[in-house]
Amino acid sequence: MVLLCTFRLPLLLTCLAGTLASEREQGRTSEKTTPYGPSSVEINGVNTVTVEVPYGFQCSANCFPACTFTWTRGGLTTQGPELNLQLKEQVPPQVLICMATNPTTGKSVRVSKTVNVTAGPSNIKITGPDTLSSGVTSNFSCSADCYPSCSYTWTISSEAQSTVTTKYGQTISVTPDSWEIAEELICEAQDTVSLLYISTYVTPYVARGPEDISITGASSVTLGDTYNFVCFVDCTPSCNFTWTFNGKIFNGDEIQLPIFHKGHKPVVSSKLVVTVDEYRHNEALTCEAKNVASGVTAVSTKILSVTDPISVQPVSQDKPLAHQPFSLQCVGSQNPASILWLKNGLPIAVSGRVSLSPNNITMSFSPLLQSDGGLYQCIVSQGGAAIKGVGYQLNVNYGPLQAVIIQSGKGPVGKVLYLLPGSKTALQCSALCYPTCTYTWIYKGRLAEMNASFSLTPETTMDGGPLSCVAYNSVTNDNSTANTSVVLIDGPSNVTISGPGSLEVGVKASFKCIAQCSPSCSYTWSVYGRTMHGSVVDITVNRYVATESFSCEAHNTITGKTGTANETLSVTDSHWCGC
Ligand SMILES: *[C@@H]1O[C@H](CO)[C@@H](O)[C@H](O)[C@H]1NC(C)=O
Ligand SMILES: *[C@@H]1O[C@H](CO)[C@@H](O)[C@H](O)[C@H]1NC(C)=O
Ligand SMILES: *[C@@H]1O[C@H](CO)[C@@H](O)[C@H](O)[C@H]1NC(C)=O
Ligand SMILES: *[C@@H]1O[C@H](CO)[C@@H](O)[C@H](O)[C@H]1NC(C)=O
Ligand SMILES: *[C@@H]1O[C@H](CO)[C@@H](O)[C@H](O)[C@H]1NC(C)=O
Ligand SMILES: *[C@@H]1O[C@H](CO)[C@@H](O)[C@H](O)[C@H]1NC(C)=O
Ligand SMILES: *[C@@H]1O[C@H](CO)[C@@H](O)[C@H](O)[C@H]1NC(C)=O
Ligand SMILES: *[C@@H]1O[C@H](CO)[C@@H](O)[C@H](O)[C@H]1NC(C)=O
Ligand SMILES: *[C@@H]1O[C@H](CO)[C@@H](O)[C@H](O)[C@H]1NC(C)=O
Repeated sequence: MVLLCTFRLPLLLTCLAGTLASEREQGRTSEKTTPYGPSSVEINGVNTVTVEVPYGFQCSANCFPACTFTWTRGGLTTQGPELNLQLKEQVPPQVLICMATNPTTGKSVRVSKTVNVTAGPSNIKITGPDTLSSGVTSNFSCSADCYPSCSYTWTISSEAQSTVTTKYGQTISVTPDSWEIAEELICEAQDTVSLLYISTYVTPYVARGPEDISITGASSVTLGDTYNFVCFVDCTPSCNFTWTFNGKIFNGDEIQLPIFHKGHKPVVSSKLVVTVDEYRHNEALTCEAKNVASGVTAVSTKILSVTDPISVQPVSQDKPLAHQPFSLQCVGSQNPASILWLKNGLPIAVSGRVSLSPNNITMSFSPLLQSDGGLYQCIVSQGGAAIKGVGYQLNVNYGPLQAVIIQSGKGPVGKVLYLLPGSKTALQCSALCYPTCTYTWIYKGRLAEMNASFSLTPETTMDGGPLSCVAYNSVTNDNSTANTSVVLIDGPSNVTISGPGSLEVGVKASFKCIAQCSPSCSYTWSVYGRTMHGSVVDITVNRYVATESFSCEAHNTITGKTGTANETLSVTDSHWCGC
């Protein structure tokens, strides 16, 4: 007997029991009419039955005339050569009894067969991770219900390589290579007794990527408009996306394009909708993709050139001049709901001098002052987001104011600049101006230097004279001059006393002290022990002496240096007869 089984669970198993062995008997059918048998009684059929599966058993005998058959199993009895058996549950081994009876002689023969009972396989399942990571070992376990036990066979198919590997055992370890996309793991559980089997499979993805990340979308954007950007990446099984723009983080809504078709690269993408609302010239947009299975990340950066349609601009081409009217305009807006003005980032206080047009488009200065300088911006609200426009740096052209000559190491010089002969003096001219002034030095009526710095080394008192510095602003076309007078310090030298050649008793005589002295000297006289001040003294001799001596000391008012002149004169007395 051969058991023909077709099975591919979970399809129902069907088995047919054939009767090949008995065909040999049929070939020599006897013509004798003498009753005989039963003999050679036997039961044909499987040795093991599986619960839920239908089986057929056949009882045969040599018999004339044909025998009748009675089957007994447990308490059940059936008639006929065939016994159909389909067990509903796991039971102990079953004893099948067949009794063949010759209907003519009444002779009967009993035979029995014990069949083992098995269950399963059923309830097969594979446990293991949903995703694999290339180079990382993962364990998978297969289980099924069998009676008394199952044996397990695994078939591992690599999609990328078209290879098939067979492994035995309930648990396997899988280590996919980096190029794998998915593995197909088939587990076959076979009942060790019935040899029936059941199989199932899983196709865990091999985590891969992110690779080949890129961002598509506009490279030039205008403030206030909305743009779509898509981040593309090769990623298995999927990636999470994080977008960064303008210092803000977006978790992009994620779309997954078809994946896991053999030979096709799985592509995952994420879309970001960005509204540009703050002016920067160039702004980086980054997309970070993170593999949800492996945690591996990749980043793509796109530099967006951001254009601001709003800007502050001067109304006219004229340069902003101090003390002149000036106007700024907020340009680029269309039907703005409101316009707000900022100076150096702060709201502007309007006044009588600084005013706004009714729609706030124009800001007017009447007049413009030096203190109005700064960065002016306008914030336009139209529809949705408020847009801060490109600013205008207002530089008020003014000056020159407060031109001053500064002596290095000493500070501003006064009306007169005293200098020692032969010494070099460095001077600097400065004035308050925007833009920077140009400077011209005029020394003793002649152009001496065209530079903010000027140095001079006067040698003699002849080198003294007027010195001017002219600060000139070419934008305001205005001048400012600082004047000083250079005076050389000299003397006293050549101190002399001038006056009469002799003195007469009782007669007043005037004497003058003269010295070469710059800028000036003071004079001190010593006349018979008395001290007198001033360049001129009057001397009167009261009594007769032969000679009178006196001196004058010249005293430089700046340096304190002195010089002295002595005079000795003879005295005459017209009233003295000498007799
Ligand atoms: C039934 O099972 C028992 C125990 O497993 C075994 O010893 C016996 O040979 C089996 N009988 C048949 C008919 O297979
Ligand atoms: C996988 O099985 C191996 C032994 O077969 C064991 O050493 C390893 O720890 C298991 N790995 C995991 C992740 O369970
Ligand atoms: C991916 O994103 C989802 C939803 O934003 C989040 O729940 C999940 O934890 C993220 N996974 C990883 C690995 O970051
Ligand atoms: C104009 O500017 C003023 C002061 O900044 C502000 O209070 C007002 O709301 C603005 N009006 C419009 C129409 O923008
Ligand atoms: C102006 O003077 C400074 C200091 O002496 C010097 O370094 C500079 O070169 C001068 N500039 C011109 C244009 O002469
Ligand atoms: C400024 O000075 C220049 C010469 O240095 C002269 O030509 C010009 O007229 C002056 N301008 C004014 C406004 O004083
Ligand atoms: C400087 O001198 C010039 C001519 O010498 C004169 O016009 C000007 O007013 C003077 N400036 C000052 C501040 O004294
Ligand atoms: C001193 O004064 C006299 C007369 O005024 C003059 O001749 C002479 O050169 C002077 N000497 C010097 C050194 O200046
Ligand atoms: C003038 O007299 C004083 C004191 O007598 C003396 O020290 C000095 O040298 C004299 N000066 C001259 C120029 O003779």
